[in-house]
Formats: sequence, C-alpha cells, structure tokens
Amino acid sequence: MDKGFFITFEGGEGCGKSTHIKRLSEYFKSKGRECVVSREPGGTSLGEKIREILLHAKEGIGMSPRTELLLFEAARAQHVDELIIPALRSGKIVICDRFADSSEAYQGAARKLTRNDVKFLNDFAVSGVKPDLTIVLDLSPDVGLNRARTRDSGNADRMGSENLSFYEDVRNAFLKLAKENPDRIRVVDSSGSQNETFSEILKAVEEKMNGI
Ligand code: TYD
Repeated sequence: MDKGFFITFEGGEGCGKSTHIKRLSEYFKSKGRECVVSREPGGTSLGEKIREILLHAKEGIGMSPRTELLLFEAARAQHVDELIIPALRSGKIVICDRFADSSEAYQGAARKLTRNDVKFLNDFAVSGVKPDLTIVLDLSPDVGLNRARTRDSGNADRMGSENLSFYEDVRNAFLKLAKENPDRIRVVDSSGSQNETFSEILKAVEEKMNGI
C-alpha cells in the first residue's frame, strides 16, 4: 500500500491556493495516486457549519479573538479525527487548503493572541498530525486583496475584511514560520505566471516525496 502523505497550502488572501491545489490533485490523479482535497475551516459537515459561523454568520460580527481561535481549533480537531487521520492511514495523499499555520498567522500574529496560547491549542487540535510539506504561496497583500476582492465581487467574508496591516502581519508570520521550519515549509513566490508558480510547487513536492 502507498504511504500517506500530507500537504498543506498556506498564504494570504488571493494568493492562488485553490487554483494550485486543483492542479496538484490532478497531477497526482494522473500518476494513479489517490488524493483527497480538503480545506480549513471545514472539510467535515460539522467543520463546514463552524466555517459558516466564522466567515459568514451575522452573529460572528464582533466575535472575540479567543472565541475565533477556539472555533478554528474545534473545526480542526474534527477534521483531523474524521478525515485526515483515516485518509493518511489508508495510504492517500491529503492536500489541505490551510491548516494550523493559519491560526499562528491570523489569530496569533494578526489578532495578537499569544504564541503560546495558539501553539497549545493547535497541538491539542492536531493530536500529533503534522504536514509532511507546507507550501506558503507568498504574495504582497495589496495584490492579493485586489485579486480576492475581484474574485469575490466585493463580497469579502469576515476574515477577508480587515485592513492592509492585518494582512501584512499575516504575511510576515508565514515567512517567519518558514524560516523556523525549513524542512517542512517551502515559500513559493506567487506573483509570477500561474505556470511558473505551479512548476515551483511541483519541484518542492517531487523533492519531498522522492522515494515515497
Ligand atoms: P480560505 O477559505 O482559504 O479563504 P481565502 O480564499 O480568502 O484565503 O480561508 C478562510 C479564511 O479563514 C481566511 O481569511 C483565513 C482564515 N483562517 C484563520 O484566520 N485561521 C485559521 O486557522 C484558518 C484555517 C483560516
């Protein structure tokens, strides 16, 4: 049986995660590998309900940062137990649009919760599951926000409606995490053409999966 492999994609708003996740999953399928694509918050029916509260519900307006972190972590714990662990155990490749690093960047660096608190809750939620590879798609936040706002026709969700300095904090946090975790996290410049970015992603994936 193939060995499971866990890849996460991270980055700021409008950095192109969905496009590249789709291309990467098609690449794996063309190689005959079973691949599950999922996302956070979400990925399970309970997680998708929590996503709705976090991103779209009117009750979410004015949500306290601690509540926000706990809801992201609640969705994550369910995702890990219900989807990620079983898929990896059965030898599948799991590609996830965002994971625990997003909580460090958004709730930690940008919402200013302490790193210790975020780390503690991340560890609790992931229950020992760690990505084999994390791709951070790096893009200047003003470019990313413009892309995201055009894509969403001006209807940004709650997490996509902050000011520029919030997303600058998010970007710097991802770059810092990459420096701290050079074996796991690869930063890929997302400002060039889609093909250029994808070939960098593929290079990182192939290097990491070599022999798997
Ligand atoms: P996503 O669906 O990737 O939206 P986008 O395409 O706008 O990047 O993510 C939803 C939002 O939730 C995004 O703004 C990032 C935020 N988020 C956190 O703040 N913390 C987290 O732990 C996760 C997983 C996401």
